[in-house]
Amino acid sequence: MCHAHASEMMEETDISAEHHDEICRKNCDNHIGFNISKVVAPMVGQSDLPFRLLCRKYGADVCYTEMIFSNLFAESEEYRNETLQTCAEDRPLIVQFCGNDPAILLKAAIYAQPFCDAIDLNLGCPQQRAQEGRYGSYLLDKKEWPLVFETVKTLSNGLTIPVFCKIRLCDKLEDTLEFVRGLQSSGCSAVVVHGRKRGSQKLRRCGAADLAAIRTINDELMIPVISNGNIQVAGDIQICKEETKAAGIMSAEGILHNPSLFSSESGHNLQDVAIEYLNLCEETACPSLDCIRQHLHWMLGKSGHGRTVRYKYPGPFLKHVFLKNAIDTAETIEDFRKIARKCLQNIFV
Ligand SMILES: Cc1cc2nc3c(=O)[nH]c(=O)nc-3n(C[C@H](O)[C@H](O)[C@H](O)COP(=O)(O)O)c2cc1C
Repeated sequence: MCHAHASEMMEETDISAEHHDEICRKNCDNHIGFNISKVVAPMVGQSDLPFRLLCRKYGADVCYTEMIFSNLFAESEEYRNETLQTCAEDRPLIVQFCGNDPAILLKAAIYAQPFCDAIDLNLGCPQQRAQEGRYGSYLLDKKEWPLVFETVKTLSNGLTIPVFCKIRLCDKLEDTLEFVRGLQSSGCSAVVVHGRKRGSQKLRRCGAADLAAIRTINDELMIPVISNGNIQVAGDIQICKEETKAAGIMSAEGILHNPSLFSSESGHNLQDVAIEYLNLCEETACPSLDCIRQHLHWMLGKSGHGRTVRYKYPGPFLKHVFLKNAIDTAETIEDFRKIARKCLQNIFV
């Protein structure tokens, strides 16, 4: 893995630390083998195949699956078929798992490996069920670090594709730095940093992400960093890249609101984009009506996350009660298409 290359090179050649870092970074990029500049985040209930295909069409370099439970995936073929729906155009793809048992995570990852380009370990989920199940951000607690490092080692030794880790910030920056150094030396090929702390249940995505902390982490590591947080509109991408110097940026809420966020051309009509999404749903025949419903809430108006909405699409249909009701009661893709067309004609305003 990358860290092994790095230490071998240090012994064999007499190169400056700066040059060494550069070489190492390059090695890591090569090892990853795909572009990680613009990344669509893992999102439970919203990282469906048609949405990924839509984002790819509009410039995403790589997409994540939603968080998948490694124990269920390792055990149940039905769960595997349900959670990992993909196709030839759906690459590069990163499959994200949660869990706390290295052997089970490896078993699950081996099932997923033929269909994806990297495996990610979720170290950021802040929900209560993650606390109860001992996964996600609860593995950022210092007492869990040996288990996390062992897991990353097991995965990176047992897989032929790279291992990524998606983390949140620890309470203290020094702890975060120590933790990511440990991930790197355990064989992690890239770290995604959601620049917020675990916070409280209600405040888990509130406030601006700490881009300065992400910059410090990026400077500390030889492996690439993907910065997550504060990407709401296209202009944020450049700002975030400049502030963090990260190899890539990741968006979740922003790209739900506007799946053409990563496009090099601006001004895509969101209602047309929503219709394209619905066409892809028909072609791939995979997401549930509820998943489609949530996407339409995000794309056409109100966020599907009720009072936790932080950023809202500044369009004319925002929070409009008729629109909300129409989306909530639609029962077929054609119903949804009619709603998008009505939005296009301003019928809801
Ligand atoms: C609907 C939704 C579902 C999410 N599910 C996951 C998940 O499965 N795994 C994960 O690591 N993060 C998940 N997140 C967090 C995002 O990946 C991301 O880290 C967070 O929203 C911050 O990015 P943003 O500021 O671009 O929204 C989810 C976020 C949203 C909005």
